[in-house]
Amino acid sequence: MINEKMPLAMFMELRKEVLNQWPTGKEVDLDEAISYQKNIHPKKRFSDRLLQAKNEQETLVQPRAGVALPNQHLELLRYLQNEGGADLLPTTIDSYTRHNRYKEAQAGIEESVRTGKSLLNGFPAVNHGVMICRDIIEKLNVPLQVRHGTPDARLLAEITLAGGFTSFEGGGISYNIPYGKNNSLEKTITDWQFVDRLIGYYEEQGVRINREPFGPLTGTLVPPCISHSVAILESLLAAQQGCKCITVGYGQCGNQIQDIAAIKTLSNLTQRYLRRFGYDDVLVTTVFHQWMGGFPQDEAKAYGVIAWGAATAVLAGATKVIVKSPHEAFGVPTAEANANGLKTTKQLTVMLKDQIAIESPAIRNEMEIIERETVSILEAVLALGENDFGKSAVRGFEAGLIDVPFAPAQCNANKALPARDNHGAVRFLDFGNLPFDEELKKFHQEKLRERAAFERRDVSFQMVIDDIYAVSKGHLVGRPR
Ligand code: 5AD
Repeated sequence: MINEKMPLAMFMELRKEVLNQWPTGKEVDLDEAISYQKNIHPKKRFSDRLLQAKNEQETLVQPRAGVALPNQHLELLRYLQNEGGADLLPTTIDSYTRHNRYKEAQAGIEESVRTGKSLLNGFPAVNHGVMICRDIIEKLNVPLQVRHGTPDARLLAEITLAGGFTSFEGGGISYNIPYGKNNSLEKTITDWQFVDRLIGYYEEQGVRINREPFGPLTGTLVPPCISHSVAILESLLAAQQGCKCITVGYGQCGNQIQDIAAIKTLSNLTQRYLRRFGYDDVLVTTVFHQWMGGFPQDEAKAYGVIAWGAATAVLAGATKVIVKSPHEAFGVPTAEANANGLKTTKQLTVMLKDQIAIESPAIRNEMEIIERETVSILEAVLALGENDFGKSAVRGFEAGLIDVPFAPAQCNANKALPARDNHGAVRFLDFGNLPFDEELKKFHQEKLRERAAFERRDVSFQMVIDDIYAVSKGHLVGRPR
């Protein structure tokens, strides 16, 4: 890890090693890639589209999508653009590529060619290489982003940015903690500093690439202060390496007031911390993820969940919303189901466009709580790491000062436990080592006592279990039967 913008010579030296990891690395010529990127039309540049949406107070819709073969991938994206009305398009990367297992990805491509159907759960961009990425992007009319879940995404970033993508999702914390058991946090942060430095290099050369830390983390009852703390640390890490267009994310919890307050505070706090460390010229936008937890199997019910996420995204004033499909309970959706999720969402984002929620007392109170919690965590973490962002993150997780519920990573304390209050807002049932003062703790305890009294049972772990399954069973709060 490094606590400054990586020196150019060091970056260039590291690049050689990265590009050697797979033969398509040789296709990357950084100077040529920069002139290629400069010729991309602004309407197809992620940062331009986000800025326009922010200015016009519009909430953009974006799906997830990726299949193994270039032609089928293009066809899928075209359908999501034309039929689904996607404002922004993804390319979801397959699991082999996410684990740097390019040989197996290659076998998957070959099997897919042989059988004519996608045998990978995403698009293996590293194996396909620079020119195939460009070919696909050139045939579409909206900006494209790489979405993945890759702890070491250095080669993927080199190839996809040279390949014309204008946005890159992930981060050294958010693509570690929820995604694996044994990845060293120090290593993933170091590897992501390279990715951020690459984007910083493009920026130095006049090319703006959007960076999006992955907001929802485990997608399971993650209280806003936890995802905000991670998003802000990753924003600081990215800004330090020269990124100037950052989209911070949050996964819908389901309580309207809390979700609106979360998006509003996420934007405010990210800008406040960036300014505090001297990164005044970063454009900050927000992404709201529709419900990331378990979904109902029934399609009509799934549309209900999707629609509620769409409505909340607009009311919260999010710059974009990542859309679920009615097939969510079963896995990767068909093109049609994916487009249907988009259409449901867009119907609401457009209908509600002029109804962004004003800060009512309830929203204001909730914002104050989220702010106090997030500031408590970040101040403790930054103090522990002496304002070195990478070191702070590593030590903060070690000490359990940031603790992501239900994360598989061994470097995560897994002591804090969330549960819903009587109105469905996500609170803490167990604080673990979170650095909250007594007043904050009392607030949570009272909220859970209120629920327990209503349900005529004690505050207990059973509530957590009931809450995890509630939405898929048609409820928000997991009440006893
Ligand atoms: N195409 C569409 N959606 C995908 N997801 C993962 N891979 C793909 C893909 N290739 C979705 C899952 C889940 C979310 C985390 O990502 O269905 O909704």
